[in-house]
Amino acid sequence: MTQDILTHAEGGVLTVTLNRLDRKNSITSAMYGAMADALQAAEADTALRAVVLQGHETIFSAGNDIGDFLNQPPAGQDSPVFRFLRGIAQFPKPLIAAVCGPAVGVGTTMLFHCDLVFAGDNAAFSMPFVNLGLCPEAASSLLVPQMFGYHRAAEALLLGEPFMAEAALEAGLVNRVLPPTEASNYAQAQARKLAAKPITSLVETKRLMKKHLQGAVLQQMQEEGASFSRMLREPAAREAFTAFMEKRRPDFSKV
Ligand code: COA
Repeated sequence: MTQDILTHAEGGVLTVTLNRLDRKNSITSAMYGAMADALQAAEADTALRAVVLQGHETIFSAGNDIGDFLNQPPAGQDSPVFRFLRGIAQFPKPLIAAVCGPAVGVGTTMLFHCDLVFAGDNAAFSMPFVNLGLCPEAASSLLVPQMFGYHRAAEALLLGEPFMAEAALEAGLVNRVLPPTEASNYAQAQARKLAAKPITSLVETKRLMKKHLQGAVLQQMQEEGASFSRMLREPAAREAFTAFMEKRRPDFSKV
């Protein structure tokens, strides 16, 4: 069990909170494992009808823990990160995110698998995989171009620069922008509304909306996962992670 992920069930809603503020809610293997387990339990529990994912008012997540990337990179498709990503992509009940502050890497890509996303006006989304010598994950190389259009996706995934809540709203990633102090409560209120509706209708509606893409999403995730795992061990990524740890700019001139 890790205290870095908190879960709380109330009124038919399971709330999963990233709780590793001293490391900016960066996500370790243990945290991916705990989130995958929480989703699996929520799917099986008939009393739970919706899930809310949230971080803190100041930060959603700094993405994957970079020390973990260096020291224990994911080993194969059964590793906790891939179990979490498949779990979130296939979760049958409504999934709602409340996002404030930076949402880096998987902190942004996981949102493409949520049904509703509510953002604080301080939310800053980024997918800086290229800047880390990596490639996209979580089927983001499929889902970002589909949602944003190719050129805006290329801006987000090739340049890897952050985009703010209003841009995410305009691009369709976010449903509503709120003051950061209100995002979590608003997400809870929407989740409670959903939890009061017939679960059979919610699940079937979500399945019908997603079914044409489901196979492609899982296939893309697998291909990305294979490339990502290989690239984690290559010189560009090693340089990027070492530079982050040493608090210096990476030097990609030799990779
Ligand atoms: N993995 C491990 N540690 C991380 C981390 C990560 N992804 N992100 C932040 N931390 C650590 C920092 O190293 C720092 O540790 P220290 O106190 O020992 O120096 C601490 O968390 C605070 O981070 P800091 O960078 O000082 O906070 P900030 O508010 O100035 O910036 C971010 C916040 C999220 C913008 C910045 O931390 C960041 O860019 N993180 C890396 C994001 C990233 O590249 N993730 C991988 C995506 S695939």
